[in-house]
Amino acid sequence: MMYVLITGTDHGLGLALVKDLLERGFFVVACRLNPEEKQVDALLEAYGERLKIVELDIGKDASVACMKEKVAGLVPHIDLLINSAGILGDMSRVLGDELDYDEILQVINVNALGALRVTNALVEQVMRSELKTILNISSEAGSIGDCWREGWFGYCMSKAAANMQSVLAYNNIRKDGGRLIVMHPGHMATYMRGHLDTTAKMTPEEASKIILHTVLDTELPVEEKPLYINLYGERLPW
Ligand SMILES: NC(=O)c1ccc[n+]([C@@H]2O[C@H](COP(=O)([O-])OP(=O)(O)OC[C@H]3O[C@@H](n4cnc5c(N)ncnc54)[C@H](OP(=O)(O)O)[C@@H]3O)[C@@H](O)[C@H]2O)c1
Repeated sequence: MMYVLITGTDHGLGLALVKDLLERGFFVVACRLNPEEKQVDALLEAYGERLKIVELDIGKDASVACMKEKVAGLVPHIDLLINSAGILGDMSRVLGDELDYDEILQVINVNALGALRVTNALVEQVMRSELKTILNISSEAGSIGDCWREGWFGYCMSKAAANMQSVLAYNNIRKDGGRLIVMHPGHMATYMRGHLDTTAKMTPEEASKIILHTVLDTELPVEEKPLYINLYGERLPW
């Protein structure tokens, strides 16, 4: 049995990944922020014995510690850890505007520190597994080399920090056979902007299938640095 843990499964990409991994035969621990969000529960009927739902706020130390304890009693190890949870923050303010530093800090706390909290809590479980793989859902917006935006301060800075955090994590696990992939999942029609993003060309369900094909069905190279790729496996500049 292969075990996967995914964060941010209330809806969007995280939820789509849960469905696809269950279909692929994985045992899935779905971490959800808001217990009122019941979409993942709908999968219990079909996959009950291979699906466990755990509440998790990756922005809070105590919540991650609680998740760690629960997960230790649910699975023997974690083959694939997918850090998918994330928030967007303000997209419109540019230099000279009144920037909301508290909000920027909150975005960094969730997107950069959140994934670090989860990885740090679960790294032993990952390194005990067969696949030993961490998939960090980042964004093209985290690329410093390719940055064209003038705003999105919280999101871009947080994803750049998440990318650095990913390299540091990989430097820790690579020598023992650990793998870590930093991925831009594509522009998807999700509710991350507070409403359905109809400007996106892809649904999270479509993205999820392509992501899992790239990560699980193709032989990605193992290199000194983690791969920073899009969902199709094409490289992005750091
Ligand atoms: N959509 C895109 O075009 C796009 C592009 C590039 C990268 N991404 C990345 O893809 C990932 C998934 O995003 P998405 O588009 O699927 O958006 P989404 O539907 O909003 O999914 C994000 C998930 O994270 C959860 N979440 C938010 N704060 C959390 C916290 N503190 N602790 C735990 N979970 C939390 C959300 O729960 P609630 O909704 O219940 O708050 C939601 O389930 C994110 O990392 C995002 O940055 C998305």
